[in-house]
Amino acid sequence: MVSRVHVVGIPGSLREGSYTRATVKIALEGAREAGASTEHIDLRECALPFCRGGGDEDLEGDVQGLRERVKRAHGIVLGTPEYHGSYSGVLKNALDLMGFDEFENKVIGLVGVSGGRMGAHSAMSHLREVGRALHAWVVPTQAGVPRAWDVFDDEALTLEDEDLAKRVKSVGAEVTRYAKLHSVENARAFLDAWAAAQPNPGAEDR
Ligand SMILES: Cc1cc2nc3c(=O)[nH]c(=O)nc-3n(C[C@H](O)[C@H](O)[C@H](O)COP(=O)(O)O)c2cc1C
Repeated sequence: MVSRVHVVGIPGSLREGSYTRATVKIALEGAREAGASTEHIDLRECALPFCRGGGDEDLEGDVQGLRERVKRAHGIVLGTPEYHGSYSGVLKNALDLMGFDEFENKVIGLVGVSGGRMGAHSAMSHLREVGRALHAWVVPTQAGVPRAWDVFDDEALTLEDEDLAKRVKSVGAEVTRYAKLHSVENARAFLDAWAAAQPNPGAEDR
């Protein structure tokens, strides 16, 4: 079992005063309250090339640095604004520059913000698919902030809806709890045995 779960948060918005960034920070607060150490990865501070798919970008800019920071994490909170019914391109590019080494068997939590009333539901559903493709465990609880301009204080970037803030925090807490569970030796052994088991074990006895 790891001594302390480490959770990183990656908001997929580069906008100054981004509500997504503020939301990810709240989720990380929830992770800390659940006992994790946390790191906020601000993509504005990462020099990332576009993923070209050939691996020749591996040594460019901060690609290795980003990978190392995510590799160290047991859990990852991904935050996205809703852009045209999906998640943002900047987050997609960052994810495409990484892969199984950073995400496989890790625990992912999702938060999203939108200008409209749907609360980034589509964006988070699409991200859930990406998590599956990366063989990560995406926790069921997710938090969407609809009409973000209406519930955030623009100066302090605090989320004024307490219930919503609680839900956002619960994503960070759930990531921490499940990341911890994944690191427990017995739980790992159980998951490995389950993966190696014949389909529907015991069904022949019924
Ligand atoms: C390119 C673009 C597309 C957007 N598409 C949607 C959308 O489909 N649905 C929606 O509710 N809001 C949409 N919005 C509004 C954003 O979700 C909203 O402004 C959000 O706060 C942006 O996140 P940020 O504050 O982290 O930058 C869009 C904004 C941009 C810039």
